[in-house]
Formats: sequence, structure tokens, C-alpha cells
Amino acid sequence: MNKIVKELNLLLADLQVFRANVQGCHWSLRGCHSFLSVHAYMDVIYEDASKDIDAIAEFIRIYRAEPIITLSKYVRRASIQEIELEQASKVEHVLDKVFVDLTKLNLHFFPIFDLTTTELDIGDHMAVMTATYGKHLWFIRSLIKKEDEQEEEKEDSEESESSED
Ligand SMILES: [Fe+2]
Repeated sequence: MNKIVKELNLLLADLQVFRANVQGCHWSLRGCHSFLSVHAYMDVIYEDASKDIDAIAEFIRIYRAEPIITLSKYVRRASIQEIELEQASKVEHVLDKVFVDLTKLNLHFFPIFDLTTTELDIGDHMAVMTATYGKHLWFIRSLIKKEDEQEEEKEDSEESESSED
């Protein structure tokens, strides 16, 4: 059980930094045509992370251990880096950062699932988180593709305009 608690605390630390990053993007994003959709979507991811933060901390308590509770320890233990304002305000950087952070979060789920033997509640929750964050990865991947395509279309139209001159 000690090993599972250690891994759950590392997941908790990453989720806390991830949630702060996503909330920073929700607040700071500006100047893009997809502002409303990305702003609203960051809120959806934030809500999912909030529920999971509470669930993971409570699992640790249910199994009679102590969740990390301080922000400084979360930042020290997390594999996810804190976002910078510059990164949180530009849509292409936001999507790239959230994609990288989601990929790091996903690395926790199967190893914790694999450690569970009698802790079926924790294993079940890891399976649900795999599905939830896998779906977010797919959405962000699709948004990145859309942004790239729009950028290419813009470049194509600029090229055809300059060739007409
Ligand atoms: Fe809000």
C-alpha cells in the first residue's frame, strides 16, 4: 500500500500543477479567433481535474495515509512544469502545453492500476481517468490540427495574393 500511496501523491502533485496551468490558460488567453471555445474548454478540463484531485486525496486518506497538502510540495514533486504568462496567453502555446501536460498525467494511470491488488476502488478510478484524459488528449490534438490547418490556409491565401501582384 505504501507504494500506491507514494504514486497517488505524485499523481496528486501533477494534477494540482495541471489544474493551476489550465486555470491560468482560461484566464489569460487572448487575441485569437477560437478564444470562446478554448476558454470554455479549459474550464471543462479544470472541473475534471478538480474532481480527481479530491478523489485522489480521499483515496489516500481512506487507506490511512496522508495526502500532500502544500503548494510548494506539489510544485517540487510534480513532473509537470508550471505555465508562464506568455505561454498561457497565446492559443498555440496553450494547446501545446496542455497536450504535453495531459501526456504526463496519462503516464500515472496504468502504473497505479497495475499496483492495485485489493484496492479495486483505486483501480476503477484509474480506468475512468484513463478514459477521461484520453478524451481530452484527443480533443486537444484535434484543436491543434485545426489551428495548424487554418495557419496553412492563411499562408496559402497570402502566397496566392502575392503571386497575383
Ligand atoms: Fe471562468
